[in-house]
Amino acid sequence: MIDYLEVKLNIRQEAKEDFGTIHALVKSAFETALMSQGDEQDYVDHIRAGDTYIPELSLIAEKDGLIVGHIMLATTKVHDGDKTHDFLVLAILSVAEQHRCSGLGAALVYVALDRARRMGYTAVFLAGNRDYYSRFGFVPASRFGIRYKEDVPADLLDNIMALELVPGALDGISGIVDL
Ligand SMILES: CC(C)(COP(=O)(O)OP(=O)(O)OC[C@H]1O[C@@H](n2cnc3c(N)ncnc32)[C@H](O)[C@@H]1OP(=O)(O)O)[C@@H](O)C(=O)NCCC(=O)NCCS
Repeated sequence: MIDYLEVKLNIRQEAKEDFGTIHALVKSAFETALMSQGDEQDYVDHIRAGDTYIPELSLIAEKDGLIVGHIMLATTKVHDGDKTHDFLVLAILSVAEQHRCSGLGAALVYVALDRARRMGYTAVFLAGNRDYYSRFGFVPASRFGIRYKEDVPADLLDNIMALELVPGALDGISGIVDL
């Protein structure tokens, strides 16, 4: 149990029984997102069905027994010439609208990143809002010479971000990240 900014949260690994509620939460959270494709809830299901899914890094936040937040980290790769490096992607973060701005999103991010570090992962990538994610130490991936495989509009380039969980993890690595 985490006491974060006076919000009592239980953060735990998602379970099969939660999948339907998570699907609805992600759908509704992204209806009010600054950027949304409208199919983020299907993306979560798609990751679970594939080989990049890491159950230990797919977490929910519960408040009063209700699921009010969800985060999913999955494996990804950086292709550097003929070499491939395994890292993580922060694929999806969702907080129910009525529970926002109380530190819940941050709590999910910090717990997931800490778990990832303890599991031995060394860096995390994401495509997301740089104003939000910079508070956790994410910086534009371009600073490491790493870019997304598809063309990204110039004003969104810095939204492709990276965080070293282990200092120096991205030293000497450049190339193209799958997200
Ligand atoms: C983004 C999101 C997860 C944040 O959850 P949260 O629990 O409100 O986050 P926190 O309480 O930790 O942080 C709140 C802060 O983040 C800011 N913030 C929230 N969403 C933001 C966004 N999209 N861009 C920039 N800042 C954002 C808030 O203004 C607030 O700022 P403050 O600390 O200066 O007051 C939540 O707004 C959400 O689910 N949004 C819809 C889905 C989405 O956009 N997911 C992220 C994809 S990039």
